[in-house]
Amino acid sequence: MTSSPSPFRFPVAARYAGMESSPLKDIFALAAREDVVSFAGGIPDPELFALEDVTACYDWVLAKNGHRALQYGVSEGEVELREQAARRVSRDLPTDVSQIRVTSGSQEGLFVVAQALLEPGDVVLVESPTYLAAVQAFSVHGARMIGVETDDDGVIPEALEEAIRTHHPRMVYLIPTFQNPTGRTMPVERRQAVADVLLRTDVPLIEDDPYGALSFTGSTWAPIAALPGMSERTILLNSMSKLMSPGVRIGWMRAEGPVLDTLAVAKAAISMQSSVVDQLMVARYLETADLDAHVATVSGVYRERRDAMARAIAPVLPDGAHVTHPEGGMFLWAALGEGYDAQEMLSAAVEAGVAYLPGWSFFADNADRSTMRLSFVTHSPAVIEDAIATLGEVIAAHRA
Ligand SMILES: Cc1ncc(COP(=O)(O)O)c(C=O)c1O
Repeated sequence: MTSSPSPFRFPVAARYAGMESSPLKDIFALAAREDVVSFAGGIPDPELFALEDVTACYDWVLAKNGHRALQYGVSEGEVELREQAARRVSRDLPTDVSQIRVTSGSQEGLFVVAQALLEPGDVVLVESPTYLAAVQAFSVHGARMIGVETDDDGVIPEALEEAIRTHHPRMVYLIPTFQNPTGRTMPVERRQAVADVLLRTDVPLIEDDPYGALSFTGSTWAPIAALPGMSERTILLNSMSKLMSPGVRIGWMRAEGPVLDTLAVAKAAISMQSSVVDQLMVARYLETADLDAHVATVSGVYRERRDAMARAIAPVLPDGAHVTHPEGGMFLWAALGEGYDAQEMLSAAVEAGVAYLPGWSFFADNADRSTMRLSFVTHSPAVIEDAIATLGEVIAAHRA
């Protein structure tokens, strides 16, 4: 008898070893389960997509510019989209077309930045906690992520300066507005204090701003890049994902100087260019549709859902727990406190029909395992209230 040969197994790079699953893949799997109300993903409500406008823009692009739309394009991005991007960024920070590089969403932007700027072993300072897929994009390039202490106003400038002096980072990565995962926003004075530290220590900033326009109060915050002296040392990333559609996969980076060429070369190495037809559609949309009005409608709906979640969660949290009250964006962040482990509790929660994202994966180091991220945008207030009540029962059953 011959023994059956063991199946072939591709050898994988050390940087991906042990990553057969990732928290992000798990989120999408949870979100797809029909018997579970999932607050795990940052997934916009599809009912709110501007389907008619988007369809009209695709139709127009294919009718008027079809041959070009289906052809290869340039790594920097199509000029119509870069013009529209420059126009939007210029609301806070004067920007011309030459300073915009189109990306396939901000996620690719982060990967391009990592490819272009990081050497193995470089340190990247990040907020504690921070966006987990940024940590992934940087760490697969061999970077070492170090978390910097935060409070309700974001990263603490003194802690940032101390970490810079101790670790000599290649760059600092921040999400100052409606942050993922906490929903927190850095006030203007804190932005200035952070800029002062970066100017004093001469460290570049990667500023990720996919959520800034999703304001529930009407207030918006100019990026740190717009503060005096900061534009030349910041790469600012924006995305259409949370404002228009994540499926379209279009975003852009704004930078200055020779690094723009390096970013274009890295982008070309990764994907040649972003989809031309999608770029032209987004350009047409930004030119002819009213994105601000659309975002205002979406934000109004999200605000009601934030209110529903905030109302429902307050009474079910244990004494001493801390929960954020975001003024925009998609996420609420709860720290249950001493004795709770949100990862361990997750299977009981899913069993009961509700899912969240355990917070530990958002920490580069020293994770607080009692934390969880809850996205309030995907479900109606009634569904949110019921599911949070269920979550409350699960929390009560795990009371330390
Ligand atoms: C802070 C942050 N940056 C970047 C991204 C990537 O988004 P996309 O690639 O869809 O633009 C996300 C998505 O959740 C995010 O939360």
